[in-house]
Amino acid sequence: MVSKVQERKKVTPVYLKDKKSKGEKISMLTAYDYSIAGVLDKSGIDTILVGDSLGNVILGYDTTAPVTMEEMLHHCKAVRRGVKYAFLIADMPFMSYHISIEESKRNAGRFVKESGCDAIKLEGGTNMADTVYSIVNIGIPVVGHIGYTPQTAGALDGVVQGKDVQTAQHLLDSALALEEAGACMIVLECVPELLAKLITESVNIPTIGIGAGVYCDGQVLVVNDMLGLFEKFVPKFVKQYATLYPLIEQAVKTYVKEVSAGEFPKQEHAYKIDETILMKLKKN
Ligand code: KIV
Repeated sequence: MVSKVQERKKVTPVYLKDKKSKGEKISMLTAYDYSIAGVLDKSGIDTILVGDSLGNVILGYDTTAPVTMEEMLHHCKAVRRGVKYAFLIADMPFMSYHISIEESKRNAGRFVKESGCDAIKLEGGTNMADTVYSIVNIGIPVVGHIGYTPQTAGALDGVVQGKDVQTAQHLLDSALALEEAGACMIVLECVPELLAKLITESVNIPTIGIGAGVYCDGQVLVVNDMLGLFEKFVPKFVKQYATLYPLIEQAVKTYVKEVSAGEFPKQEHAYKIDETILMKLKKN
């Protein structure tokens, strides 16, 4: 019997929820440009996040707070052009969803209308439930983000969140509020593993962990971290699947050396011209 090759389908929120119900894990990575987005998509990633972490790893800011709507849209458009199958999520930058629900809807809409993203992500739990509800209500899927929230890190006490009864209860309440508001997924950042497990078991939508242990329904990492491209510091929860920084450094050093020594380019890198044409040129 000839078996049919299963055609890969575009990933949707329904597909991702189905994965959770079957106990299948969801993969997510960040991307900020066309080339990397294309590799991730071709490699079978479920979802791609254009994270505002681009403020740190691409734009060189110290925090994500300065990232603007225009910067996010610019990168989302590039990533969109490289992605065919993965579910594409745009991170709403700081202050793009904090002033009013009207402004939040307008900005969320720009990610869909101008950059073609499938969904938006925003940071916050119970405090953002009304905003999430309003955005979902205009037909835009929303991913929540609780635990360590980098945009408002200054207001947090340390990195790992939910270490006492009060803050752990707040995270659980936030996850439930996000689900009730219609969020399609929740990112849990820097949450103790067993609290992430409890939250994951308490909601029907997928949880995606970053520094939240193995019991989440899926995992996300910043692509520059997992490829070993960002050398400034490596958080405890990052596994480096490659160490590209020293490879790039070595390649550039070799290039500089060869250019200085006239060893590059060689004949095979040069374009040719018929010598009779050169002979016909007028000499001054
Ligand atoms: O901006 C980002 O990359 C994120 C992930 C860390 C989840 O929000």
